Amino acid sequence: MRPFLVLLALSVAQVVNGDLHQLIVGTFGTENLYTVEFDDVALTLDLLQNYSAPAASSWITLSHDKKNLYGTSSSEDSPAFISYSLGNATSITYRTTLQMEGNCSSSKAIFVVAASEPPYAVYGTPFGSLGECGTVMSVDKNGTLSEVIQNYTYKSTSGVHGMALNSNNTFIYSADDSANTLWTHSVNGSSGEVTYVSSISGPVAGADPRHVAVHPDGKYLFVVLEGANKLAQYTIDQSTGIPSFNNITYALIPDNATSSSYWSDEVALSYSKNYLWATSRARSTNATGYISAFSLATDGSITDQLFIIPTTSSGGTANSVTPSEFSDKFVALTDSSTGFVEIWTLGSDDMNASVIAHLDLDDGGCCANAVWYS
Ligand SMILES: *[C@@H]1O[C@H](CO)[C@@H](O)[C@H](O)[C@H]1NC(C)=O
Ligand SMILES: *[C@@H]1O[C@H](CO)[C@@H](O)[C@H](O)[C@H]1NC(C)=O
Ligand SMILES: *[C@@H]1O[C@H](CO)[C@@H](O)[C@H](O)[C@H]1NC(C)=O
Ligand SMILES: *[C@@H]1O[C@H](CO)[C@@H](O)[C@H](O)[C@H]1NC(C)=O
Ligand SMILES: *[C@@H]1O[C@H](CO)[C@@H](O)[C@H](O)[C@H]1NC(C)=O
Ligand SMILES: *[C@@H]1O[C@H](CO)[C@@H](O)[C@H](O)[C@H]1NC(C)=O
Ligand SMILES: *[C@@H]1O[C@H](CO)[C@@H](O)[C@H](O)[C@H]1NC(C)=O
Ligand SMILES: *[C@@H]1O[C@H](CO)[C@@H](O)[C@H](O)[C@H]1NC(C)=O
Ligand SMILES: *[C@@H]1O[C@H](CO)[C@@H](O)[C@H](O)[C@H]1NC(C)=O
Ligand SMILES: *[C@@H]1O[C@H](CO)[C@@H](O)[C@H](O)[C@H]1NC(C)=O
Ligand SMILES: *[C@@H]1O[C@H](CO)[C@@H](O)[C@H](O)[C@H]1NC(C)=O
Repeated sequence: MRPFLVLLALSVAQVVNGDLHQLIVGTFGTENLYTVEFDDVALTLDLLQNYSAPAASSWITLSHDKKNLYGTSSSEDSPAFISYSLGNATSITYRTTLQMEGNCSSSKAIFVVAASEPPYAVYGTPFGSLGECGTVMSVDKNGTLSEVIQNYTYKSTSGVHGMALNSNNTFIYSADDSANTLWTHSVNGSSGEVTYVSSISGPVAGADPRHVAVHPDGKYLFVVLEGANKLAQYTIDQSTGIPSFNNITYALIPDNATSSSYWSDEVALSYSKNYLWATSRARSTNATGYISAFSLATDGSITDQLFIIPTTSSGGTANSVTPSEFSDKFVALTDSSTGFVEIWTLGSDDMNASVIAHLDLDDGGCCANAVWYS
């Protein structure tokens, strides 16, 4: 009976999980987009395509239906966002570049996120000396970036490095690294435009919120504190959408590591939303960054920090973790110190993780972040 059940379970799993999964990887400084393929049985990672892009994208994101890819455009002198349509993971067509408007013309675009609900607006921010702006862009019926529909401002000292929408797209949260602030804006469901709701300071001076993730049930917000090298859990007020800090943080580097030698990077939920992953980067290439995972309760709150494990390298300016969208077992990790993508897998007891596939993409500017196309 048992072997039969095991075989049955395996064959069902194989029907549900395709063996081959493609990811698209952006770069910080070179005008290439890479499509790579992960075989979840053979545990191989191969380069499928090196696409010559019109611009480097230090951050890329997929549209809700994966028919479009949006990126920051690092090759422009002023902040801009780039739009591609996707036939599949290797059929990439450049569509357009939209310049940011408003007062932030001397900085560079740093982050972009697409709504999962109509009208599928796309939100972008720049970073740098004049980083106080945000932009809302509309898309046409194919999902291609269409026009800037709103310029909005944070504050003069701001530099928003990451944003996240809640699952029904009623609120958007902005991690303001430069001004150590967490912002809440409500989102107009018919236009996609945002309205200021609140701004709160990071837990301590120099905490520096960098990236955020919202649990789909909307009760908890997770914030990577780049300067403090911690992950903070906030509770979200269900009527106002405003997060509050309840003094719950977890270190993203070991006790014996010196915080000033690291900058924490990314936080992301796993496929089932039962796990949360977070990373830190070493500021010097002679040290390694760290990867950590947490288990979550069904309400979305953190129950345990499962591990903090050294990554293969410092991570450079990346060490960005992207959980797969078909299994809790796999996450992609990018490095820009030498340029590579790795697939990590969660240990069978959830208490550790290890590299199972590695692909060098050393073009002098790779690798920024990766998105799972399939
Ligand atoms: C992707 O699309 C291209 C162009 O339509 C096609 O040649 C290629 O076979 C497709 N690849 C896959 C894996 O379907
Ligand atoms: C641009 O900056 C000026 C001066 O700082 C300010 O008065 C104006 O409201 C800003 N415009 C926008 C669109 O934010
Ligand atoms: C955004 O700001 C620019 C000025 O830089 C202005 O020309 C444009 O009309 C604004 N767009 C919107 C949608 O308000
Ligand atoms: C959407 O895509 C279709 C098919 O490629 C094309 O014919 C149409 O012109 C596009 N629409 C817009 C608004 O770009
Ligand atoms: C939301 O946007 C629509 C369309 O632009 C507009 O008519 C409506 O007044 C907006 N609602 C709010 C609450 O601002
Ligand atoms: C959106 O989701 C939040 C929880 O994330 C919930 O409190 C709210 O009622 C939902 N709003 C709508 C319009 O569905
Ligand atoms: C926050 O928690 C830490 C321990 O995790 C504790 O030392 C500190 O006193 C707490 N601060 C407040 C304001 O409760
Ligand atoms: C911290 O301690 C562990 C062993 O306890 C050691 O392997 C590691 O190198 C130390 N890290 C630093 C940054 O000193
Ligand atoms: C790495 O090198 C820097 C100087 O470049 C030095 O200060 C630091 O102690 C080194 N760190 C390790 C872990 O060796
Ligand atoms: C790490 O994972 C391996 C493989 O899944 C497992 O056998 C091992 O017991 C784990 N080690 C620890 C310390 O949890
Ligand atoms: C991708 O192609 C470009 C030329 O278009 C080249 O410079 C780069 O090194 C290639 N990347 C890899 C990883 O081979």
